[in-house]
Amino acid sequence: MNENSFLRLGGIRDVDTFRNCLQAQNISIPCDATLLAGEDSPLAQPLHRSDVAIGNRFAIQPMEGWDGTSDGRPTELTFRRWGRFGASGAKLIWGGEAVAVCHEGRANPNQLAIGPNAIGDLSRLREVLIREHERSVGTLAGLVIGLQLTHSGRYSSPNRFDRPEPRILFHHPVLDKRLGITDDYPLLADREIRNIIEDFQQAARVAQEAGFDFVDIKHCHGYLGHEFLSAHTRPGNYGGDFENRTRFLREVVKGVRDVAPALGIGVRVSAFDTVPFIPDPKLSLPGKPGHGVPEMDAHLLPYRWGFGVNPENPVEPDLKEPKQFLSLLSELDISLVNLSAGSPYYNPHLQRPAFFPPSDGYHPPEDPLLGVAQQMHMTRTLKQQFPNMIVVGSAYSYLQDFLPYVAQAAVREGWVDCVGLGRMVLAYPGLPLDIIRGRELQRKQFCRTFSDCTTAPRGGLPSGCYPLDQHYKDSEDAARLKDLKHPH
Ligand SMILES: Cc1cc2nc3c(=O)[nH]c(=O)nc-3n(C[C@H](O)[C@H](O)[C@H](O)COP(=O)(O)O)c2cc1C
Repeated sequence: MNENSFLRLGGIRDVDTFRNCLQAQNISIPCDATLLAGEDSPLAQPLHRSDVAIGNRFAIQPMEGWDGTSDGRPTELTFRRWGRFGASGAKLIWGGEAVAVCHEGRANPNQLAIGPNAIGDLSRLREVLIREHERSVGTLAGLVIGLQLTHSGRYSSPNRFDRPEPRILFHHPVLDKRLGITDDYPLLADREIRNIIEDFQQAARVAQEAGFDFVDIKHCHGYLGHEFLSAHTRPGNYGGDFENRTRFLREVVKGVRDVAPALGIGVRVSAFDTVPFIPDPKLSLPGKPGHGVPEMDAHLLPYRWGFGVNPENPVEPDLKEPKQFLSLLSELDISLVNLSAGSPYYNPHLQRPAFFPPSDGYHPPEDPLLGVAQQMHMTRTLKQQFPNMIVVGSAYSYLQDFLPYVAQAAVREGWVDCVGLGRMVLAYPGLPLDIIRGRELQRKQFCRTFSDCTTAPRGGLPSGCYPLDQHYKDSEDAARLKDLKHPH
């Protein structure tokens, strides 16, 4: 695999050339030739479904900053990020960032967590977001704000960023080894699961009191909710068949509705996955990871540790169960769904396609545009099958200068309802408004997927856009990040 064969988006002059390149490389991504602005823009159209009204087609994806206090409270950096999310002009704020429902479920010691001050803290975060939205957009009409609730499960690390304290639902033949989990390491007991469900319930009550429109019961990226969906080998009530693997979701939803009946519910789900990848051991040198290859042996077939994968060939998606999952959401009267894929820990090339790998990653095993295309096609398939749901799509940032044209085409052609922006908005928070208002786009602000926003927290530093956001660029942490990336 040679990166020279990848399309270098930064070097492509204009959208016509990009469209030709996509065609020449046989990459199926919809892309409009011209951008529309104002009322003509598909991205500016409001969206109405039952009791939800969203003012335009941009969503801000949840993004943590690893910048909370040790007791799970926001800091100035957290307020700054939420303010920028609000100022972006996107009318759907999907979750703000992952907030742990209890201390043990935090993915790192700087993750926000529900504690005694949560109602006040979360209200203030929301207020800052609203204030900045009104300042930049001029109206609050159609602004919908959710809070993402999580338990980090296998990726819990509540006390030290470099000391995992996994809470697992089943033993995984590859991931256990990576986390130093031995065969006798205990599984979360059903009784502990019920306590976690109560924590979700309490967290939803907090979210409601803090004024949020909905909570996202997170089911993506390898964290606990997602691990439930993959718990084929777990015995008992919460593992095995589809019914048991979704019991957690159903019980959380019931619990939330009991205490906060007016609160909306959404679900962000990794709708397909693949096996864990590693840097190719044959091609890796110290400090220089090779290209990603599946860490997979024939003896692991049929593969029984994934959700949305073909068990006979687990590097291939299988949407049978994800479709069942969306049917279940409909039955539960949940119409807000945010589709993602994989995990940032074990297959980052799928979850957040990037040209430059994070420090714990590997060089892309394929043109990252293929990862973008794969998520877009999965989203389209599910959107077509569930036309009444409000579907948010993920993983657009790698498109860089062409994101606006692809986003417009995807919404116009009904591939997705709302385009979710992740890394791009850390680098260029004004992008949605610039597009909708027909202003000149700021080329220098486009995210180029250097992955510093992932490398920094892997080394215990706050996340942010170190290459392009002046605040992080000028910070002392930027020097520390440099040392992390290039140790002497
Ligand atoms: C710094 C950073 C923090 C993130 N935090 C979260 C999070 O708290 N919850 C979540 O569901 N996804 C999180 N993600 C994933 C993003 O929401 C998004 O799915 C991913 O970056 C791919 O979208 P993009 O191509 O627009 O960046 C995070 C991503 C980054 C880069």
